[in-house]
Amino acid sequence: MERISFDWPTLERLRSEFLNPDEIEGSYWKSKEDLEQYHISFGKRISWKWSAVWEELRNLGWQPEGKTLLDWGCGSGVATLSFLEAFGSDALESIILWDHSTLACQFARQHVRELHPHLAVEVRSIESTDPKLADTICLASHVLNELSNDEQETLNSIFGLARQIVWIEPGDYKSSHLLGIQRERLAGRMRIVAPCVCQESCPMFLEDNARHWCHFFARSPIEAFTDPDWARFATMLEIDLRSLPYSYLVLNSNDCKVIGAEPAYSRVIGKPRQYKGYTKTLSCDSQGLRDLELQKRDDGKLWKTMKKGRNGSLYKWNELYNGRIKQGESVF
Ligand SMILES: C[S@@+](CC[C@H](N)C(=O)[O-])C[C@H]1O[C@@H](n2cnc3c(N)ncnc32)[C@H](O)[C@@H]1O
Repeated sequence: MERISFDWPTLERLRSEFLNPDEIEGSYWKSKEDLEQYHISFGKRISWKWSAVWEELRNLGWQPEGKTLLDWGCGSGVATLSFLEAFGSDALESIILWDHSTLACQFARQHVRELHPHLAVEVRSIESTDPKLADTICLASHVLNELSNDEQETLNSIFGLARQIVWIEPGDYKSSHLLGIQRERLAGRMRIVAPCVCQESCPMFLEDNARHWCHFFARSPIEAFTDPDWARFATMLEIDLRSLPYSYLVLNSNDCKVIGAEPAYSRVIGKPRQYKGYTKTLSCDSQGLRDLELQKRDDGKLWKTMKKGRNGSLYKWNELYNGRIKQGESVF
């Protein structure tokens, strides 16, 4: 794709529509240029989150299994393109792109076809009776807050029949909770692969945990800090490129063996909070959601790892005492 520069009025309009989904009438994609602009900016930023999720899934030992890839609410096709970059297309027989905007479907299809001309790419909606569904990997990204309750339920009943689901939403409170509702509806029908380390009900929905939300942070690539266009993007649109919050959910229809699916593991939610000589961290595991404290003097190596925050969010607390981590390790 030739280099296109950012068009600020278009990006500002799109951003304001994303932030106020209740005010959207029809689709915000008014032209191919809107999608082009999205693809090189907001879409690119979303692709960095996808890269983080693919890396995490690879580390866990997850593999794509379905023969069909469905990208629901595909927009410019970021999720599909990122999947293809991470896993290639050899194991796929077809791709289904769906978005209520015809312009978006066309744009995404053209991009996928340009990069993978041999792939069969269909543009269509999918029903729960679709025979392909049981062998489909369903992707969804940054779409839930644009859907009505009925649409969210319908999407859930379709996705619940799939082979695998990989779903990313923004890391804000509302989107994370909407994704949590999807999790609770799918749990029991499918196996939760990530981020959860157990299959119990999500503790975020307990009254005592109402202020918390399940979210993680991806790293921005170096270009986000060196490219003057990205610097201007951050300033003009007031988006902090150092922080890429996201929530995600991965499920399999079968009992796949992945790392992290045993009681020994814990997820660190958000970022550990640093204080002088100690760290506080919100830990989620089969014991529920807990605020744990780690004193530097108890486990200096773990303290340093958590401070740097480069080893992902999966941990093992090898020794706990009275809400304090005495010894632990990051899994990756
Ligand atoms: C914020 S964009 C995200 C696009 C893409 N998934 C991504 O991550 O870059 C949300 C997309 O959902 C689509 N969408 C919203 N409501 C929809 C619906 N009811 N059915 C299908 N697509 C919908 C919009 O047209 C838009 O392309």
